[in-house]
Amino acid sequence: MIPLSVPNLKGNELKYVTEAIESEWVSTGGSFIDRFEQEIAEYLNVEQAVACQSGTAGLHLALQLAGVTLNTEVIVPTLTFIAAVNPVKYLGANPIFMDSDDSLCIDVDKVEAFCEKECTLTDNGLVNKSTNKVIKAIVVVHVFGNMANMEKLMKLASKYKLIVIEDATEALGTHFVSGEYNGKFAGTIGDFGVFSFNGNKIITTGGGGMLVAKDRTLAKQARYLSTQAKDDELHYIHHEIGYNYRMTNLQAALGVAQLEQLEEFIEVKKNNYFTYKEQIESIAGLSLLAFSNTIRPNYWFYSLIIERDFVNINRDNLLRFLQNNGVQTRPIWGLIHQQKPYSNNQAYKIEKALKFVEIILNIPCSSNLTQQDVRKVTDLLTKLET
Ligand SMILES: Cc1ncc(COP(=O)(O)O)c(C=O)c1O
Repeated sequence: MIPLSVPNLKGNELKYVTEAIESEWVSTGGSFIDRFEQEIAEYLNVEQAVACQSGTAGLHLALQLAGVTLNTEVIVPTLTFIAAVNPVKYLGANPIFMDSDDSLCIDVDKVEAFCEKECTLTDNGLVNKSTNKVIKAIVVVHVFGNMANMEKLMKLASKYKLIVIEDATEALGTHFVSGEYNGKFAGTIGDFGVFSFNGNKIITTGGGGMLVAKDRTLAKQARYLSTQAKDDELHYIHHEIGYNYRMTNLQAALGVAQLEQLEEFIEVKKNNYFTYKEQIESIAGLSLLAFSNTIRPNYWFYSLIIERDFVNINRDNLLRFLQNNGVQTRPIWGLIHQQKPYSNNQAYKIEKALKFVEIILNIPCSSNLTQQDVRKVTDLLTKLET
C-alpha cells in the first residue's frame, strides 16, 4: 500500500531521542526543547518560538492571547481541519464561517465584503450587525502548504481592528518570493502563527506544535500559560489559570532531527509534485491544484481535482478504485459549518468550498515517496482513462 502521508525518520531521530532518554530528561524540561525552539525561530527568522504539545494547543493559546472571550466572535474558514476552529469554542466564542478561494485558503474578498456590509466599525472594534457582538480576530489557514492572500488580509485586519492568527500547521517552510512580504514565512506575518508536528505533517514530533507571536511579551505569556502559569515555582503560586500544553523533551529531540531535514523533504516533495503534475495534465478531466506563484510552497499535500467529465467516475469511486489497487487517498474535510457542533453558527455566502469538497482527492505525498510510487499512481489514473 502506498500511504497518503507518513513520517520519514531516517536522520538523527534515534540518536537524539536516545540522548534525551540517557539524560533522563523526558518530560516538559530539557535542552532539546530550548534547542528546538531556537532552531525553529532561526529558520523562520523570528525572535522566539514557543513549543507546545500540539498545534491545537498553540491555536488555543493564540486565541486566548488575542483577547477572544465569551461572547466575542472570530472569522474562520469553513474548508479546513476542525482543529483550526474548535479552540474558538473552547473560549466560549463563536466562529463566523467564510468561503475559500481557488487556493483553498480563506476568500479574502468575501471577508472584506462581510466586514464592509455586515458589520459596523466602532471604538470597541468590529461589531457584527446580526449578533451585536465584537469580532476580535480572524484565523487564516494556509491550506496544504499554500498561502492565503496575506497582503490584502493584513490591510483588512488593520482597517477593521482584527487580530490575525495564522494557522500555518500545514505550511512550515512556505514563504513569499515576491511582493510586500517577500522572504516572509507562513506564520510570521500575522500577530500569531501556529505550526503542527503531528504525524502526517512535513516534519513530525509524533504530536506537537509551535507558536510564534509578533509581540515578544505575548510569546512569553504563551510559554507561561503553557506551563501551568507558575508565578513561583518553589511555592506553587499561580496568578492565572494555565494549561499543561508544553512539548516534552522527547518530542523536541525528534523535532530537532526532523528540522535538520526539512529543506530536503521540501525538495523531494517538489520533485514528486512536478512529476505528478506532468503526468496528470495529460489526462482529460484531471488536474493538480496549483500553488500560488508568489510563494515557495512546502508542497505538503497534493490535491487531485476531478472534473465531472473524468470517465464518469466520482470522487468516492475513484478513492475505492485506488484503495483496491494499493494506493491510499483521502477526500478533503467535511465543511465545518455543516458539522453538528457548528450548525447554528453564521456562515457567509459559502459557494466555492461546497464545490471543492466534492471534487478533491488528496493523493500520496510523503517525503519518502519515490518516483516509482508516483508513476504507479499516475499509471492507475491513466489506465482508468483508456
Ligand atoms: C489546518 C489544521 N489546523 C490545526 C491542526 C491541529 O494540529 P495538531 O494536530 O498538532 O493539534 C491541523 C493538523 O492536525 C491542521 O491541519
